[in-house]
Amino acid sequence: MKRVRKAVIPAAGLGTRVLPATKVMPKEMLPIVDKPAIQYIVEEAAASGIEDILIITNRGKGLLEDHFDRAPELERRLSDDPQKEPILQEIMNISKLANIFYVRQKETKGLGHAIGCAREFIGNEPFAVLYGDDVILGEDPACGQLIRAYEQFGNGVVGVKEVSPQAISKYSSLKVEPIGENYFRCTDMIEKPKPGEELSLYSILGRCVLPPEIFDILDKTPPGAGGEIQLTDAMRTLARRDGMTAVDFTGKRYDMGNKLGIMQAGVEVALNHPFRAYLKELCKTL
Ligand code: UTP
Repeated sequence: MKRVRKAVIPAAGLGTRVLPATKVMPKEMLPIVDKPAIQYIVEEAAASGIEDILIITNRGKGLLEDHFDRAPELERRLSDDPQKEPILQEIMNISKLANIFYVRQKETKGLGHAIGCAREFIGNEPFAVLYGDDVILGEDPACGQLIRAYEQFGNGVVGVKEVSPQAISKYSSLKVEPIGENYFRCTDMIEKPKPGEELSLYSILGRCVLPPEIFDILDKTPPGAGGEIQLTDAMRTLARRDGMTAVDFTGKRYDMGNKLGIMQAGVEVALNHPFRAYLKELCKTL
């Protein structure tokens, strides 16, 4: 079995739910305390053993490329001050996290279409997908948990969590049966189910590992929910044909694609900083 050593991070969405912040600023660059969201995602991929990462971008996302590049002027200035040595190292390490490549999705035709843009880069290997607006924080990197399931079962893997009955219509819904502690076999799925169409409350949240066959399936997948080419529709074909493994991963997931998720991520990560004492005081006045 081929090792999973490549990952794709789709980051070409328009971020309309986070306007006006995302009018010019890519949502993937919005910070959680002191790091842009996409850096947490690239760090997760690197910690999961991924060597090569393709970020799918589009017009106006040049900041993403700059962030993972060297910054010689800034580095020179920091190196003049011995006290700034730790931050200098941190800044330089960002450009060494992985080999990062970029390709533009020329039209915003959906997540499935964005993944299709990775075909040449991936070739004939299995690969991980880390959605550019889903940050997952935890001891054991979520992407690595999915890769282990791929190595164990040999078919495509989706990262799942149970969502509330009220929320399921905004996500996907999976037909699953348990096969282990946090493992399920998935044989069907539906994107944004209407009431009554739900297969379960398990939904794909931000991570998957896919075989290269997904590209041929994507080519034949017509536009689905919202008129976009949906990755879930292509994965449904794969799940019905070969079965997939669903992993209820450990880690806390933050949806950086909506304003509440961004605020939750900011507050929870800030609890590791002196902000905690400030927040405790503030809460007394609420
Ligand atoms: P979303 O649907 O959450 O992103 O896609 P969006 O289109 O930016 O959201 P809104 O509704 O306008 O606020 C999930 C992931 O897929 C990427 C997004 O960047 C995000 O990481 N995506 C989506 C693409 O790369 N291309 C697309 O055409 C659509």
